[in-house]
Amino acid sequence: MKLTVPFLFLLFVNINLFAQSIEGNAETFANNEPISNSEIAIIPEPVSVVKQAGHFVLPANIIIQASKSPELKQTVAFLQERLSTPTGYYVNTLSTPSATATIKLILNDKQDATLGTEGYHLTVGLKQVTIRANKPAGLFYGVQSLLQLLPKEIESKEEIKGIKWTMPCVEITDYPRLGWRGLMFDVARHFFTKQEVKQYIDAMVRYKYNILHLHLADDEGWRIEIKGLPKLTEVGAWNVKRVGNFGDFIPPTADEPRNYGGFYTQEDIKELVAYAKERFVDIMPEIDVPGHSLAVIASYPDLSCTPEAATYKVRSGEKIMDWSRGAPPIGLVDNTLCPANEKVYVFLDTVFSQVAKLFPFPYIHVGGDEVSHTFWEKNDQIKELMKREGLKTIPEVQAYFEKRVEKIIVAKGKKFMAWDEVLEGGVSQSAAVMSWRSMKYGTEAAKAGHEVVMSPTQFAYLDYMQADAITEPKIYASLRLSKTYEFEPVPEGVNPVYIKGGQANLWTEQVYNIRQAEYMTWPRGFAIAESVWSPKEKKNWTNFFARTEQHFKRLDIAETKYAPSVYDPIFSVKRSADRNLSISLSTEVEGLDIYYSFDNSFPDRFYPKYTAPLVPPIDATVLKVITYRGKTPVGRMMNMPIEELNKRAGKK
Ligand code: ACM
Repeated sequence: MKLTVPFLFLLFVNINLFAQSIEGNAETFANNEPISNSEIAIIPEPVSVVKQAGHFVLPANIIIQASKSPELKQTVAFLQERLSTPTGYYVNTLSTPSATATIKLILNDKQDATLGTEGYHLTVGLKQVTIRANKPAGLFYGVQSLLQLLPKEIESKEEIKGIKWTMPCVEITDYPRLGWRGLMFDVARHFFTKQEVKQYIDAMVRYKYNILHLHLADDEGWRIEIKGLPKLTEVGAWNVKRVGNFGDFIPPTADEPRNYGGFYTQEDIKELVAYAKERFVDIMPEIDVPGHSLAVIASYPDLSCTPEAATYKVRSGEKIMDWSRGAPPIGLVDNTLCPANEKVYVFLDTVFSQVAKLFPFPYIHVGGDEVSHTFWEKNDQIKELMKREGLKTIPEVQAYFEKRVEKIIVAKGKKFMAWDEVLEGGVSQSAAVMSWRSMKYGTEAAKAGHEVVMSPTQFAYLDYMQADAITEPKIYASLRLSKTYEFEPVPEGVNPVYIKGGQANLWTEQVYNIRQAEYMTWPRGFAIAESVWSPKEKKNWTNFFARTEQHFKRLDIAETKYAPSVYDPIFSVKRSADRNLSISLSTEVEGLDIYYSFDNSFPDRFYPKYTAPLVPPIDATVLKVITYRGKTPVGRMMNMPIEELNKRAGKK
């Protein structure tokens, strides 16, 4: 892969540049006192950071003293492991007060109203570190901040010699802006193992996310064992392995093996829920119905209104919808559960009974998005249902379905949550809405008194490309880091009590493995984390990006993948009066230079520097560009065919 070289370069970028960048913004970013150097680069930015004189030096014999609480066991073990592995130091733990303790994790006897249930107060003194919180979750988040104050090598999975394990003395008071700080991980389009889901949780908790929304069912796979419905996992969890451009794959033949996929047993789910809980993450299950249900239909065809369903197979990425007319899509196969079929509600009752027991989280997400009307419009069972129930439109048919599903969910003691399309035909007041098509639907829902989680495509869709399609895996839309950072989950004019929080969504049609899932999540996941945790007035792109670059180095050492796409230049092309191409280049971050070539050779900083729009020489076939910061290359070598630029500029 082309990525190796730039990643190495990132490791060598001069730390002083970040320091300058942060110092340059100290004025605007000041809270109680300006942040004076790059030693403090916490993401998400805490509520208050007051730098003190001096440094704390980790002793070779570390004592962690922690309040007695079963909920703290994992936090203490985590801190012990994270400190001992890279340092090679001896780390002991105590639950009784000790004057010689190095790090104290203390649950407040008297509640500190400022901190709430997830906040913490962190004091790094010259001789001792203390984290105080009302609840174990606060101590866990305090530990995350504490680790971010230590040198980046603290992220290492093996011992590193020769590091001065110090951190700046500081007083931090911190608590989240919003209670719902979610990441959605689509384990249906491509299956991710239990171990990979744990790896994803490990990465998200560093940035103080607290909800993992697992998208467990879609056209491409059903991923959870349901007792009494064996075909869901015998048939519904498997398709034909394909790679390339998902959505346009050649339909599999009957003899191709259906052995790609997988599912979680109920024991696996219990293990994941417990693993997440120990890290203060709740898992919200999503079973996406009535659309996106081809894996169910392939398993139990009589849950469809369409007789041909008996021949349907779990989708392997071939085309099943036509989006050329926009939403709702034209269904080329019927991937919906039949709202006019009582068996569907019996099926859902069985599924949600078990799902409700497995996931303690109060909400179950039932999908409701992108339901095609194509097959329902011409189906006699649906027509009869409409007549019987007085339903005038297809969205009203969906609303009928959703109300019945909500009854099932409520009967299991859970709250109903769905994507924003469920608002269209009318939905009950108690339904919670996840707003994805834009902020608008969530705003309307909140004004109508629904609980809302904001996860709009414009800011929070992690499946979108992070830079030019020339370098990114192709998908139909783009979302750069800087745009993600603009995410403001609480719209003006809305009572904020209805906005539960915000969430970024990682759909995985084009994400084939966990390394790519990480690449798509970071650094945009930093931006969303800061949007949902940090005070709105503390958000500052320049300062955020300086911290992001520090975290790139941490992720390098942690061996977590991330996208360097933010360094890729932005191409903008038009035709000038003489019909020639005029190519403008810009960068998403300040302080970078772009060097280029048209002669097929690889530009470096001794090549022409971009200063004004370019006109390609007459026979040139490719424009190669690379970004530098000073003498250091930071971007990837981009190869832009002139033919592609001609296409983008339109006809000559
Ligand atoms: C969605 O992106 N279809 C919720």
